Amino acid sequence: MEIFIEIANEEDYEGFYNLKIDKNNVFWSGFKKPPKKKKLNEWFLKQLSRQDRIIFLVRLNDNPKKPVGYLYLDFLEDDIDSISVSYGVHSDFMGKGIGTKIIAHAFEYVRANYTTTKLLVGWVSTKNIASMKVFKKNNFIETNETKKVLLVDFNEEITMIKYIKNINH
Ligand SMILES: CC(C)(COP(=O)(O)OP(=O)(O)OC[C@H]1O[C@@H](n2cnc3c(N)ncnc32)[C@H](O)[C@@H]1OP(=O)(O)O)[C@@H](O)C(=O)NCCC(=O)NCCS
Repeated sequence: MEIFIEIANEEDYEGFYNLKIDKNNVFWSGFKKPPKKKKLNEWFLKQLSRQDRIIFLVRLNDNPKKPVGYLYLDFLEDDIDSISVSYGVHSDFMGKGIGTKIIAHAFEYVRANYTTTKLLVGWVSTKNIASMKVFKKNNFIETNETKKVLLVDFNEEITMIKYIKNINH
């Protein structure tokens, strides 16, 4: 499945909304209900103006209008050597290698564009087997560093593991 990945812009809010109401994305983002359209669109537009975040959308070569995945790169205020990644793939397109390509893209993009960045970081729930596989397939190292995150909607605490990959410029 051929894809391309590009930075999102204002016209993409409809496609972004479609990704964020997908049941798997709602669940893994820690929510019980999908986001409200107006609120999500306001949030999306605000994100695009942030200096510390870049949002990318993933598109199919043969049907580019409707994005099938997303990627955020976050610049961390308290750790200027690292960039953190978050990503997702629409349920209809999972298990086709797209998640693996997204993380490969994140690495190549950071290596090419942020020459002072030393580390790419991903935090993954211990229950998210697919995402752990994606990071491992991209040669990330599973660290001993963990953090607990409270999923308010589920009143449940989950453990996240830190995955890292060095960037050798
Ligand atoms: C995690 C996610 C991005 C993976 O995307 P994807 O396009 O399905 O990933 P890929 O197809 O590249 O590879 C996933 C790997 O996990 C496996 N996998 C997929 N779903 C799985 C599941 N439920 N249980 C176990 N393994 C699973 C696939 O078989 C594949 O492994 P393989 O190459 O050994 O066969 C996608 O499941 C998703 O969007 N989930 C919801 C949001 C999310 O969790 N984001 C990541 C937060 S850290």
